[in-house]
Amino acid sequence: MRVRQLFLLLALVGVGIVALSIGQFLSAQQPVTLTVRVDQPGVKIDPLFYGLMTEEINFSYDGGLYAELIRNRTFRDNPQNPVNWSVVKYNGGEGSISLENNPVPNTALTASLKLDATSLGSGQRAGVANEGFWGIPVKPDTTYRASFYAKVSNGFKGPLTVSIESNDGKTVFANAQVSQISPEWKKYTTTLKTGKVPASTTNRFVISTGTPGTVWLSLVSLFPPTYKNRQNGNRIDLMELLVAMKPAFLRFPGGNYLEGPNYENRFNWKETIGPIEQRPTHMSPWRYRSSDGMGLLEFLQWAEDMNAEPILGVYAGLHIDNGARIITGDALKPHVQEALDEIEYITGNTSTVWGARRAKDGHPQPFKLRFVEVGNEDWLNMGTASYDSRFTMFYDAIKAKYPDIQIISTMRTQDRNFVHSRKPDLLDDHFYINIPTALRQAHLYDNYDRKATKIFVGEWATNNPRVGDTPMMAFALGDAAWLTGLERNADVVLMNCYAPLLVNVNPGARQWAVDLIGYDALKSFGSPSYFVQKMFSNNRGDVVLPAKLDPLPMLTPEQIPVAPQPQPAPGAARGGGRGPAPVTGMFDGVYVSATRENSSGDVILKLVNVQSSPQPLSVDLQGVTTINRNASGEMITGELGAINTVAEPMKVIPQPIRLQNAGKKFAHELPSHSVSVIRLKTR
Ligand code: AHR
Repeated sequence: MRVRQLFLLLALVGVGIVALSIGQFLSAQQPVTLTVRVDQPGVKIDPLFYGLMTEEINFSYDGGLYAELIRNRTFRDNPQNPVNWSVVKYNGGEGSISLENNPVPNTALTASLKLDATSLGSGQRAGVANEGFWGIPVKPDTTYRASFYAKVSNGFKGPLTVSIESNDGKTVFANAQVSQISPEWKKYTTTLKTGKVPASTTNRFVISTGTPGTVWLSLVSLFPPTYKNRQNGNRIDLMELLVAMKPAFLRFPGGNYLEGPNYENRFNWKETIGPIEQRPTHMSPWRYRSSDGMGLLEFLQWAEDMNAEPILGVYAGLHIDNGARIITGDALKPHVQEALDEIEYITGNTSTVWGARRAKDGHPQPFKLRFVEVGNEDWLNMGTASYDSRFTMFYDAIKAKYPDIQIISTMRTQDRNFVHSRKPDLLDDHFYINIPTALRQAHLYDNYDRKATKIFVGEWATNNPRVGDTPMMAFALGDAAWLTGLERNADVVLMNCYAPLLVNVNPGARQWAVDLIGYDALKSFGSPSYFVQKMFSNNRGDVVLPAKLDPLPMLTPEQIPVAPQPQPAPGAARGGGRGPAPVTGMFDGVYVSATRENSSGDVILKLVNVQSSPQPLSVDLQGVTTINRNASGEMITGELGAINTVAEPMKVIPQPIRLQNAGKKFAHELPSHSVSVIRLKTR
């Protein structure tokens, strides 16, 4: 009996081993030879190739990069109610709050918050609390700068207590007293310092009184430490994520945010400069009011802090209103002048009117500006018919005064029949696409007419199906494959940037799925797509090298990565991506871009394996004398549906590659569903 069982077991094991080896044989990929001609450098890659695109969307600035912690700081977010503010009462104190039209003289501040503190006995207090952008972030050993405009009723004795405390009021993390508040409007400042407290977000900012009376407040502000200690500056963690991408340019201020929901709420740059109390604020097209704390100078300083060049979008008469009102002809002339003034504000020396104004605002040194884009997506909102005449007005005026500035048209290459009366220096192509389209579009520009107008891909993302805050690993594969195509075609594509860049991941904060970098009040994270771009941008290279995969692995539509579709959150972003979704025909299984960096002589390989199996490679570098056997790089892979979150910010991150077998010919295996960047030393 035992012997029979043993035979049976051996037989089963034998069958299993045979099955396993057949399975292995079936799933193993045929080795592929990657030949790179190092001695035949091709087209140059512009140093500006990788950059960033930005606008106020998803609480990108307010509640995001712009470090202000007070939400609705000028009380204009809702004309009826002091939204995001509440009355707080301690130990039985009594008080009430209301909005008042009580303008602060010589400012743009028209609304104030009135606190009526009544019947305050000993130990009792009443005050106003701000909930921040989904909480006030408390960090240990941190100094916060608080400021506010205030006036009080006659006879009010004060002082006012300014504090950061837990939402239940039980824990005060930092506080300070401000005394001698005047019955006339005045600005008050103080600092708040936390001790060794745990980091948290379930907190509020409070201004309270222990003496009865009436207090009016306007422009209440609270700043944590900012990047490079700028007064009206940016969040440090987000800036660090952006700087790590080494972006060469910053396209701003939009996007739809440039156009605004209507004429009144276009990005009117003159209302975004100077002291923050002089900025009237405006509605963004993304359905919330912008504080305009991130104004024109702040955009420029943000670019400067990243060592990036500004790419300026100028308002060109179109709004996000289905074409209800388009400004053309004579009515557009003042806006052409506004654009000229804007360029002077950015580039003019201090003897010019607007250059002097920039100096007064704190930046005497002019900024470099080489690119101006006229409008945004003028093929939407019935803008096409008037765009040529609008573009021509801006083109003629800008070129006359600034002949070296390159002017970008928002008409895409897809709008092939669009005729420009003036030849734009660049066309701005936008793509929000699904994975098959991203893979297919890795070849989009292969056959682009080399004599035609060059391209700025000013917005792109693999983001369809549009669910979630930030891209999953499957989208990062699409992004990487597409980017190899842009690099290979760097003679026609001069620059590119992903959009949107930022998203506050708190419920209700997002208008658009998906976005590159996510955060709450305290923490931030890069998505797998963020890491792909960081890997590519940090390893751009200066010239494209001819690279060939032989045989090129091919996939059927069923074999290409599928983005798992989680249930969209209630009230989630607007759906539907643009661009064709051709899920027919065969797709490349591996994508490659090979480049060479002039300064180091390094050969850089970017390899994207979208197959579900590892891909063995025989690398053959031709026309090079030596390749160091030690090479390094990074590789990112993960479950197709894997994402990073504030809770798990490092779930999908690149792993280091260390090769000790590199050479003119060497073997390497690309993991399934992976993106690899390898640097090979030629010196
Ligand atoms: O990136 C989000 C939006 O997409 C931009 O504001 C607009 O230009 C495009 O339609």
